[in-house]
Amino acid sequence: MHEYTVRPITSEDQDFLWEIVYHAIHVPPGAEPPPRSILNEPGVSKYVREWGRPGDFGLLAEEQKTSQRIGAAWLRLFTLDDPGYGFVDENIPELSIALFPGFRGSGIGTALMTRIFEHAKSLYPAVSLSVVASNPALRLYERLGFQRVSVTGNSITAQLRFA
Ligand SMILES: CC(C)(COP(=O)(O)OP(=O)(O)OC[C@H]1O[C@@H](n2cnc3c(N)ncnc32)[C@H](O)[C@@H]1OP(=O)(O)O)[C@@H](O)C(=O)NCCC(=O)NCCS
Repeated sequence: MHEYTVRPITSEDQDFLWEIVYHAIHVPPGAEPPPRSILNEPGVSKYVREWGRPGDFGLLAEEQKTSQRIGAAWLRLFTLDDPGYGFVDENIPELSIALFPGFRGSGIGTALMTRIFEHAKSLYPAVSLSVVASNPALRLYERLGFQRVSVTGNSITAQLRFA
């Protein structure tokens, strides 16, 4: 078990967001990880650049022993003109989430998302995301109540609606 604490992402954490968004890209078993230059692609950089815009909200987990930042979940609103991969509506933020590889599978992602939803449910009707169909994270999202909205190629857009 990893001992960790959770705190809001601030403008000082921009470097870490660039690092962690790279790890949010699904790499199927046996496949080569993408080159770091993928971070320059607008479809990826739009989740991080100019962090601190209205509506931006995120939480990160820090390992207690080392104070190392180990993962994050964050929300960002997009527009119809410039949507994210998981765009549903201008009033529904998109969720991004990743943990560094050594910290996955022990409940930290669930804990981060549960706290993000607590924040989001008083502000928005839903949160959405895009996930590759073969990503095991899809199981977790569906367990937490996400429902499929649309499918494009091998990507699924799903949303969690708040009652
Ligand atoms: C997705 C992720 C944030 C979940 O956090 P976590 O702390 O590992 O998840 P939890 O321990 O709370 O829950 C376990 C569930 O997470 C998912 N999961 C676990 N390890 C995973 C991995 N290496 N890759 C993707 N999903 C994983 C599975 O759905 C698992 O459910 P299962 O036990 O039924 O298989 C984390 O695994 C991760 O960073 N994965 C790689 C990046 C990624 O895929 N991000 C999402 C892009 S849409």
